[in-house]
Amino acid sequence: MLELKQVKKSYKDKQIFSGIDLTVEAGQIVLLMGKSGIGKSTLLDMIAGVKSMDDGSYHYRGNEIFCQDDKQMSRFRNRHIGYILQDFALIDDYTVLENLLLPALYRRSADTSSLEDKARQLADQFEVSDVLDTKVKRISGGQKQRAAIIRSILLDPDIILADEPTSNLDADNFQLVIELFNTLKADGKIIIIATHDDRLTAIADKVYQISDHRLKLMTQGGSDDA
Ligand SMILES: Nc1ncnc2c1ncn2[C@@H]1O[C@H](COP(=O)(O)OP(=O)(O)OP(=O)(O)O)[C@@H](O)[C@H]1O
Ligand SMILES: [Mg+2]
Repeated sequence: MLELKQVKKSYKDKQIFSGIDLTVEAGQIVLLMGKSGIGKSTLLDMIAGVKSMDDGSYHYRGNEIFCQDDKQMSRFRNRHIGYILQDFALIDDYTVLENLLLPALYRRSADTSSLEDKARQLADQFEVSDVLDTKVKRISGGQKQRAAIIRSILLDPDIILADEPTSNLDADNFQLVIELFNTLKADGKIIIIATHDDRLTAIADKVYQISDHRLKLMTQGGSDDA
């Protein structure tokens, strides 16, 4: 279980969150919605541990996350978090395959040849095999989005944070991503998605709207009973 309590965040004088509570269980998909500039990416960044909170607590599996030092934080990230960033954060001058395998370089125990096999298999599934050896600067937005998705799940994280993961996808690829999220859910992962895309509410266990510096629970899905 991942649990935020009374988390506050401001940038200088600009208040973003006045105190938010969020609990996500293993096997749940949670959506964060709300207008542009409201704080969706900031919240994902705090959960990923790349941005600090001003106040409040963050626990994952009973461990306090934010009291940790930088080294422990990056170990937590590397072990547990898969993050699909809004701007993809791919390296333009590297090929798609090089980008996919980059996080594996930071994991000492990683078996790179089996990870490469897995990367190729996922690339096949998400129809980017033909651009694996192409530099990222020469592929399309939708191809970048799918590469970012593959990279985020390659190391089998148990928390997947996805920032507008479907914004560049056509209907077929959208369907592939929905299937992926449902598979991850069935595997007991925690999936937190920041999005404007109403189509994603169909797979969500909980939908939160961010407004007035708070998180408001809009719907609590019954996908477990469905
Ligand atoms: N590093 C920063 N320093 C100062 N202000 C920031 C910083 N990052 C974000 N902000 C501000 O915080 C607010 C929330 O930004 P954030 O990126 O979290 O919004 P968002 O909900 O993800 O928006 P969008 O839907 O456009 O992606 C914005 O008003 C933004 O200008
Ligand atoms: Mg954002």
